[in-house]
Parts: sequence; C-alpha cells; structure tokens
Amino acid sequence: MNTMTRTRTHFRRRLPARIAVTAVLLALTVPMAQADSVGMPRNVPPAYVSECAACHMAYPPVLLPAASWQRIMGGLDRHFGTDASMDPASVAQVGNWLQTHAGSYKRVREVPPQDRITQSTWFARKHRDVAPEVWKRASVRSPANCMACHSGADKGDFDDDRVHIPK
Ligand code: HEC
Ligand code: HEC
Repeated sequence: MNTMTRTRTHFRRRLPARIAVTAVLLALTVPMAQADSVGMPRNVPPAYVSECAACHMAYPPVLLPAASWQRIMGGLDRHFGTDASMDPASVAQVGNWLQTHAGSYKRVREVPPQDRITQSTWFARKHRDVAPEVWKRASVRSPANCMACHSGADKGDFDDDRVHIPK
C-alpha cells in the first residue's frame, strides 16, 4: 500500500514535465504529423508572393525538403513546362528563405518524384479517399491547385474540417 502511494505521487509529480515535453515535440512535428496547420513562416520575401504566387498559390516551404527547393530554384527557366525565371537577387533571397524553412520532419524529408508536393508519399496517403476523376474537374484542374479544396491553403491551413471539394 505504501508502495502504491509512492508510485502515484511519483507519477503525479512527473506528469507536468511530461506534458511540457510532449507539447514541445508536438509543436515541432505538427507540420506533418498532424498536417492540418502547416503554417506559412513569417518574413516571406516579397518576391515569393509577387513571383512564385503569380501562377499558383505560394506553397508553404515546409511541404518540400530543402533538396527539392534547391533544384526548383536552380531550374526556374524550365519550371514544370513553363518559364518562371526571375532576377538573380530574388532567386538568391527566395532560395535562402526556402532552404531555411524547408520541411525536415521525417515524412517530408524524402525527395518526391519531380520535386512535386503532389507526388509525395504523404500527399497520396492524405488524399487516398479523393476519387481520381475529382482532380480533373474544371473547378479543381490539378492536385497542385490546393486552394480549390483548402480555401486557407495559402495561409497554411489544411485542416480536414475545412476541406470542401467543389462540384
Ligand atoms: C509562369 C508561371 C509560374 C511561376 C512564375 C511559378 N510557377 Fe511553380 N508551377 C507552375 C506550373 C504550371 C506548375 C505545375 C502545376 C500543375 O501541375 O498543376 C508549377 C508547379 C510548382 C510546384 C510543384 C507543385 C506540385 O505539383 O506539387 C512547386 C513546388 C512550384 N511550382 C514552386 C514555384 C516557386 C518556388 C516559384 C517561384 C520561384 C514558382 N513556382 C513560380 C508555374 C509557375
Ligand atoms: C480535390 C480537392 C483537394 C485538393 C486540390 C487538395 N486537397 Fe488536400 N485534402 C483534400 C481532402 C478531401 C482532404 C481530407 C482527407 C480526409 O480527411 O480523409 C485533404 C487533406 C489534406 C491534408 C491533411 C489534413 C489533415 O487534417 O490531416 C493536407 C496536409 C493536405 N490535404 C494538403 C494539400 C496540399 C498541400 C494540396 C495542394 C498541393 C492539397 N491538399 C490539394 C482535398 C484536396
């Protein structure tokens, strides 16, 4: 009985510390572990908005590993079938920022085919219930068009409670 009491006290004392550690771990891994709030880091370089979001939304950097961003920034003149070149100063600035904020959580660390977010294993898993024909709807056009279904995607909000697949 004595042992029992001691064990309980011991457990109770350690609990707050455990919660604190868990909270820190969650904060670090939440981008992909939970993946509903991916987040756009602060200090977004102006060119990331004016240039990189000219043809599609500004993808949160955490969605690709550093190696993918590096390759993308090194080949903007041949960018997924289009020319996305910008001035060298902007390339350097945006490139550095992407490297700093790239995804490093284990699911994002692996380089996806074609350096596409939409070819990542986690992307396929999160979207396995979306029927193939849905991606081709005129209202969706492409899996890369996150905003079609996640209206807060440009702010890093992918919460599945706020997903809406357009007709
Ligand atoms: C001239 C238009 C244009 C500009 C400017 C542009 N992109 Fe793209 N980007 C595209 C097209 C087109 C695709 C392919 C979209 C698709 O498959 O639906 C693409 C795809 C991507 C993808 C892969 C999306 C996926 O399928 O996962 C990433 C990442 C990306 N762009 C990043 C950037 C970055 C970073 C910049 C700024 C340096 C940029 N883009 C500027 C046209 C552009
Ligand atoms: C055709 C609509 C559609 C498009 C386009 C789309 N998604 Fe999704 N996404 C969904 C649906 C539906 C779910 C929820 C799946 C579920 O709950 O089973 C989801 C779930 C997610 C999740 C997991 C959310 C959670 O709470 O676990 C992430 C992260 C995500 N999407 C990211 C993206 C990104 C990044 C893009 C663009 C590159 C994108 N999605 C494009 C429909 C879409």
